[in-house]
Amino acid sequence: MTMVGAGDWAASEYDRSAGYVSRLGEDVVDLLDPRLGERVLDLGCGTGDLSAELSSRGAEVLGVDLSPEMVSRSAEKYPALRFEAGDARSLGLRPESFDAVFSNATLHWIKEASKAIRAVRRVLRPGGRFVAELGGRGNVRTIERAIEEALAERVISSADRNPWYFPSLAEYAGLLEEAGFEVRYAVLFDRPTPLGEEGIEGWLRVFAGSFFEGLSEEERGEITERVVEKARPGLSGEDGLFADYRRLRVSAVKV
Ligand code: BEZ
Repeated sequence: MTMVGAGDWAASEYDRSAGYVSRLGEDVVDLLDPRLGERVLDLGCGTGDLSAELSSRGAEVLGVDLSPEMVSRSAEKYPALRFEAGDARSLGLRPESFDAVFSNATLHWIKEASKAIRAVRRVLRPGGRFVAELGGRGNVRTIERAIEEALAERVISSADRNPWYFPSLAEYAGLLEEAGFEVRYAVLFDRPTPLGEEGIEGWLRVFAGSFFEGLSEEERGEITERVVEKARPGLSGEDGLFADYRRLRVSAVKV
């Protein structure tokens, strides 16, 4: 899942450092429960693992990602599946051409949420399902606050650098209803997520690039150290470091 305004992700680094994103997304595939032959759009397919999972459950899948590099990597890994580059806010796909739209860990990169929701609705047939998981209100708050504070120490405002959109359940459900969906299920829950060997620093490198844009290597290094210092106490668990993820999971039907 590639995002708007967060810098470039190397697809290979993504597979190495963020493969857990797809593994954890299998629950969202369960929620969609794809049926045999259903046409499913995987919006923000990243390196294609969940498109492959949807396909293995019988769906006819198209994976779309903003990043051509992610699309190439997906096509290399899963040559039997279809992938193409596209922007979630303006999908150039045929109207009403999908039975379901699936999206995992992508929509929190899109601040123009209503545009993306309208684009999803346009490509769904009447009665089609939209099942998505994204970061919800309060997601990665400890890390976000540490970044804001470390930048503020250098009189750098994080407001324009912050690429994330973490809506509350009520806000997102409201946007879906306004756009012409009926919300059948919505839940916001904590999901502490192990940070693994590369720790907070590795997470920042993969996901928080836009906060550091235009800064020198030296500044990046120093600010990263401050972020790690500030965030670590709040992220320490019994078995290591955990990012304070909060997921918003929704299932809605086009009416
Ligand atoms: C998330 O999956 O919730 C997430 C990942 C990276 C940055 C922000 C949020």
